[in-house]
Amino acid sequence: MATVELRGRRILLTGASRGIGTHVALALAQGGAKLVLTARSAEALGAIAARCEAAGAEGVTTIRADLLDADDRGRVLAEAGELDVLINNAGVEYTKRLLAQSDAEVERQLALNLHVPIELSRRVLPGML
Ligand SMILES: NC(=O)c1ccc[n+]([C@@H]2O[C@H](COP(=O)([O-])OP(=O)(O)OC[C@H]3O[C@@H](n4cnc5c(N)ncnc54)[C@H](OP(=O)(O)O)[C@@H]3O)[C@@H](O)[C@H]2O)c1
Repeated sequence: MATVELRGRRILLTGASRGIGTHVALALAQGGAKLVLTARSAEALGAIAARCEAAGAEGVTTIRADLLDADDRGRVLAEAGELDVLINNAGVEYTKRLLAQSDAEVERQLALNLHVPIELSRRVLPGML
């Protein structure tokens, strides 16, 4: 199985404030990555950043941002700088039946789960390639 060297790699992880994102952040920290963690909840980001530093991350930057806001997306990428890895983890899911979901809820899921990851990937890929 191929392994990925994490030590010193600069990695942007979205949705780092809770759920799966915190576990991914800690696993990357244990590998010695340089982490850029983003989400909307500043307090939760600070808490996971402290745990990542204690776990061995080479450096941790937190950026409070709403990825549904175009200005915030631009700011995240500008502050993140050159990246080795992008992990599009932020997402939203409404577990209601499809017909019970409002137009706004459907749009929010498509935007955060599909359009934002595609946009972020397209914007960081040139620097990676
Ligand atoms: N859990 C599962 O069983 C499962 C299964 C399949 C796929 N997934 C996918 O895996 C990912 C993580 O799932 P999870 O269960 O860990 O979800 P979660 O606990 O709901 O966490 C979602 C993360 O996304 C961030 N987020 C939500 N809206 C945001 C916004 N507008 N801007 C920036 N960040 C935002 C949240 O942070 P803030 O609220 O602080 O912004 C949080 O860190 C999601 O993409 C989900 O669709 C999960």
